Amino acid sequence: MSNERKAVHKGIVSASMMCSRLVELQETIKIFENEHIDYLHIDVMDGSFVPNFGLGCDYMRGLRELTDIPLDMHLMISRPEQKLQWMDIRKNDVVSIHYESTPQLQKAIDILKNYECKRFIAINPATPIFVLEEVLEHIDGINLLMVNPGFAGQNAVPSTIHKVKKLRKFLDDSNKKNIIIEVDGNITNERAKMLKEYGAGMFVAGSSSLFRGNIKNYSDNIKTFIQALN
Ligand code: DX5
Ligand code: ZN
Repeated sequence: MSNERKAVHKGIVSASMMCSRLVELQETIKIFENEHIDYLHIDVMDGSFVPNFGLGCDYMRGLRELTDIPLDMHLMISRPEQKLQWMDIRKNDVVSIHYESTPQLQKAIDILKNYECKRFIAINPATPIFVLEEVLEHIDGINLLMVNPGFAGQNAVPSTIHKVKKLRKFLDDSNKKNIIIEVDGNITNERAKMLKEYGAGMFVAGSSSLFRGNIKNYSDNIKTFIQALN
């Protein structure tokens, strides 16, 4: 089933790799392949746009050698339009550019069109939905940050829960029912179920769900998360 149709019916699961343990990477990827994880969520952080350094180009190149699971690149970097060519972006990937990360958002989106990947715009909790108005026809999805980006293990900003419902209405009223809403940050099993009802279609599974316990728990954690979405 194509990811677009799956997003409407079942929900797409994107495993947050910053929550995984590097020493267990190969074993973790095998579990994800067996459990049919849809994407590997890569939090690319430059220490400037967010106060943290994160998974970079070498890490993504290494993942490509390990698996064919497509990447869901969450670019928490300043001026992404100058750096996209470093990322080895492929056709089946999702790439999220932060609205707040560049004054040249349209240019960044136009450059991204060259890669034929899915183009998402990420917005922080304090960024209002209407800023997306002029780019809706150029994007496939929106990554709605439920936390201030840069770190796993945070609590969701309360206002973001209702923001998902507002965003779905904004998109549907703009005749953009095909634009997927990804939710990212503190997505527990219970919250995933609720946000799917509010119109989210893609879910970042991090320390709040998939990576609870240790690697022996991952398979069951994934099954429980997917059950919450059905
Ligand atoms: C936060 C990252 C999220 C995070 C999700 O900046 O974008 O992807 O890893 O993990 P939890 O579930 O711990 O919030
Ligand atoms: Zn993320």
